[in-house]
Amino acid sequence: MIFVLFALAGVYTIAKSSKDKAPQSLGPSSAQDNTPVLNGPLLPSLRVHPIARLYKELNLTPRRMTPAVIASIVSTLCNLLSPLSIGLILHTVVAGRNSILSRLGIVTLRSQILTLGAVALAAQAADLLLEYYQRKKWREISRSLEHDLRLKTVAHVQRLDLAYIENQRSGQLKSVIAGDTTQVNRFFESGVDEIMRMTMTFVIVGAVFFALAPSLALLALLPQPLLLWGFRHIQRRIGPRYQELGEKTDEFGHLLTNNLAGLTTVKSFTAEDYEVERMANASEAVRRVNVEAVDTSAFYSYLMRMMLLGTSIVILTLTSLFVVVEALSFAAFIVITYFTMTFIQTTRRLDESYDLYKRTIASIERIFQLLDTEIAIPTGRRRLPLKHVRGDITFDHVIFEYNPSVKVLTGISLHANSQETLAIVGVTGSGKTTLVKLLLRFYDVNAGAIRLDGVNIRELSIQDLRNAIGLVSQDAYLFHGTVYDNIVYGRRTASFDEVVMAARLAEAHDFIEQLPEGYRTVVGERGEKLSGGQRQRLSIARAVLKAPPILILDEATSALDYETEAAIQRSFQRLSAHRTTIIISHRLSTVRHADRIYVMDAGKVHEQGNHTELLDQDGIYANLWRMQTGDVFSDKDAVIE
Ligand SMILES: Nc1ncnc2c1ncn2[C@@H]1O[C@H](COP(=O)(O)OP(=O)(O)OP(=O)(O)O)[C@@H](O)[C@H]1O
Ligand SMILES: [Mg+2]
Repeated sequence: MIFVLFALAGVYTIAKSSKDKAPQSLGPSSAQDNTPVLNGPLLPSLRVHPIARLYKELNLTPRRMTPAVIASIVSTLCNLLSPLSIGLILHTVVAGRNSILSRLGIVTLRSQILTLGAVALAAQAADLLLEYYQRKKWREISRSLEHDLRLKTVAHVQRLDLAYIENQRSGQLKSVIAGDTTQVNRFFESGVDEIMRMTMTFVIVGAVFFALAPSLALLALLPQPLLLWGFRHIQRRIGPRYQELGEKTDEFGHLLTNNLAGLTTVKSFTAEDYEVERMANASEAVRRVNVEAVDTSAFYSYLMRMMLLGTSIVILTLTSLFVVVEALSFAAFIVITYFTMTFIQTTRRLDESYDLYKRTIASIERIFQLLDTEIAIPTGRRRLPLKHVRGDITFDHVIFEYNPSVKVLTGISLHANSQETLAIVGVTGSGKTTLVKLLLRFYDVNAGAIRLDGVNIRELSIQDLRNAIGLVSQDAYLFHGTVYDNIVYGRRTASFDEVVMAARLAEAHDFIEQLPEGYRTVVGERGEKLSGGQRQRLSIARAVLKAPPILILDEATSALDYETEAAIQRSFQRLSAHRTTIIISHRLSTVRHADRIYVMDAGKVHEQGNHTELLDQDGIYANLWRMQTGDVFSDKDAVIE
């Protein structure tokens, strides 16, 4: 009985605490739960119990769940049926007959014992078979849950806006997509079955205790408050410790990731010792908190187990005394003894199961929090098929800030007619790249409007808008893969010849041919095995292959020597003949042939016109031109900064 109540208390605690928002961990395995909660408010939808939501949203149809649930239930029943049958055999032996079996037509003592033995054996066999089946079914469910959740989260993150992604700490999204989904897998693989098994064992064992020896059951009630208090106490004491451990582990992880990513910088500043010391401190913090957490957890865990065992021993002793004073039959004694053993075995993993449950709830909450994050930049409905894009671009009094208080663009107006080449120059940090990000709708303007072919880009389908634009960005990103993979990314349906053609136009073909495996050479993470200029040319080839109606070159040739740049410019002159081109550059020689040049400063346009007009205006541009051509200083490579 004590177990029943303890179990119910456990179930109650589990049910109750599942409503708590803050994830609390218990048990040594919690060390892996180091995922910080994602930035952003908890959404009202989280008030639905996370598992209920999971059930609803992930197509966990009864058809998928029922076989596993039934197998778990029947297997638990069979598991309890064996000791019951053995108790009945003893009862039959002592009493000389079994009235129920007699009524069923099995009259002789021998046949009754054989029947009960067969039942015990069959129950045992069924238990084993069903356990195998039930595990297989839960495994199937958990794997597909993990898969579904991963797909959902990955797909959602692809659509989230940059502002949200930038505000997450590195690795945070990854740990939701990879870590939290695995946690859900782990829980459904074994946790659900275990919790069902425990609950049923508690209830059935309790009912049998009450039926067999009500006074014993009542006696067992006495230490209940102590056990309940103990269980709650463990949670309260250990939860925060594991949370702290999670934070410390996380800090170490961040430090390590940053260190590995910036190893070149570390070495160049001979900061190895400093870095080792920083990581040693972080690692020491992890070690210290870990030791404390595991020690506390182990202490309480053993204390609880001792209390459970102690109670069991008291129960067994009392049961024996009951037999002695003939208040309990020997058969009942056997059943109670068996059940007590079964109970101890089942509850041995109570704290682990509870811990698994709590961590899973926290994981599911994080997953839904991510999935509930609304896409702040919704796509417009208006379609603009690629072949209808004219490429007429207007920035109309655009005001924009990344963060409130720091205005980046303070009322910019620009215009590029279809098929024109427009250039933007300006000091570093004046907001040139920001203009491009706004045109691609990575962010939305705060005021004013950007129009493509006379339509506000907010009304356009984002996909159509971005399909119309080819961007060679300032910090060109290459994916881990071959040179070919990286270029063909521009248009995944392109043929090999088209890829080579694009590489030729980007002056990349010759150097690619000289690479050890030509187009099949692997470029390394972020293209680290290539030079800066080689990377730039690959990203130009990628944009050229896309052949978009609008081409944007943001410092696309800044890493190239003059000769290569000049060669690429000749290619561009051919390319830009029938498309709108926006060139952003610090080198004025790159932009001098543009139809119109805008000179930006502090988020505003200060001068505009073509090269000759700007020289005539004798303002910022003319001054810069003189600097860069050496009319004033003899520094030929001077740039705007
Ligand atoms: N993601 C961001 N979050 C907050 N501020 C940003 C972000 N990106 C840029 N900024 C700020 O916006 C301003 C304009 O940046 P932008 O990249 O547009 O300059 P830029 O003209 O392209 O400079 P450069 O010539 O150096 O490339 C800078 O002050 C920069 O610090
Ligand atoms: Mg820039």
